[in-house]
Amino acid sequence: MIATGIQSWFYKHIAKPIFFKQDPEKVHDRVLGVGKVLGGSTLSKAVVGAVMRYKNPILVQEIRGVRFPNPVGLAAGFDKNAELTELLPDVGFGFEEIGSITGEYCEGNPKPRLWRHPELQSLRVYYGLKNDGCEAISARLKDREFEIPIGVSVAKTNCAATVETGAAISDYVKAYIAFKDIGSYDTINISCPNAHGGQPFTDVARLSELLVALNEKRNDKPMFLKLSPDLDLERLHEIATVAKESRVDGLVVSNLTKKHDFGDGGLSGKSVEPHALGHLQYLAKEFKNDFVLISCGGIFSAKDTYERIKNGASLVQLATGMIFEGPQLIGEINRDLAKMIKDDGFSNISDAIGADVWR
Ligand SMILES: Cc1cc2nc3c(=O)[nH]c(=O)nc-3n(C[C@H](O)[C@H](O)[C@H](O)COP(=O)(O)O)c2cc1C
Repeated sequence: MIATGIQSWFYKHIAKPIFFKQDPEKVHDRVLGVGKVLGGSTLSKAVVGAVMRYKNPILVQEIRGVRFPNPVGLAAGFDKNAELTELLPDVGFGFEEIGSITGEYCEGNPKPRLWRHPELQSLRVYYGLKNDGCEAISARLKDREFEIPIGVSVAKTNCAATVETGAAISDYVKAYIAFKDIGSYDTINISCPNAHGGQPFTDVARLSELLVALNEKRNDKPMFLKLSPDLDLERLHEIATVAKESRVDGLVVSNLTKKHDFGDGGLSGKSVEPHALGHLQYLAKEFKNDFVLISCGGIFSAKDTYERIKNGASLVQLATGMIFEGPQLIGEINRDLAKMIKDDGFSNISDAIGADVWR
């Protein structure tokens, strides 16, 4: 507890002011480098785990055959090339989503492509699916065992060649197949706001075609679909209906929002929060029991996390909250969340899911 307070003070008053004076992408790259080194040694992992990790059986859930030690996951896009898989369990995460990973190597959009908006507690992201590609990343992860569930976020390569629907589908399928035996679940990302050709698979006919093609190669892992927070409710309903008919197990709501006037990219953090919460509430009411709901967007605290859980989310994901509040946030959320669940008289987190919408 005291250790978390010190870490929080250190991040807020020392580390963050230094980080926030520098170029955001360079800081991101350095953090990945340090994280990779720390994750490479048993000793450093043990030290990080001792100060950050929080474990409590009240937070453990089994979802679609996957055991999640706690409900807080790292959102896709922070660890695009799966370099942090060793360290993140010690930071306290209950799972992580690697990627998004595309069929081919992808350099991403021209720089600059990441900006901070502290006044909005948001980042503006224009990476454009930078990643090493499915072949290189799956080769690195092959035969590795992971301490926490790893979700593989799959998207289509950001280039002119994948604008045509058939080529786009082949690209998704290529990446999906490459991870057949790697990780605990897959997320099909149809909501990147920064790629060539926009978000063509928010069109339900195209989405249906994509899901048919993926189902032909379906592996044993649960399949989730990640959606844009900018969809109106009618389109959200149509997409969820197609997803349900296509045996999609879960929906990740939400990705970055394009609803802003700052220029290129999509906003994360608190700018996504109202849309992500609105979509979660709608899906929980309209599609109860049809999907595992994973809430993402603007989660900065245990209070935010518990609100999503009580509105129907089984799991949450975050990225921006950790960047604004520090990595100790994960342990802090889990500790406070365990207390909130217990104080409300629940014996396990799964009993609290949907408490505000289904009871
Ligand atoms: C730097 C950055 C890169 C991202 N890249 C991806 C990505 O490759 N794939 C994806 O599905 N979402 C990506 N996202 C979106 C996040 O996964 C998440 O949906 C969004 O940021 C809202 O969560 P947050 O407010 O906790 O950051 C990215 C977000 C950030 C901040």
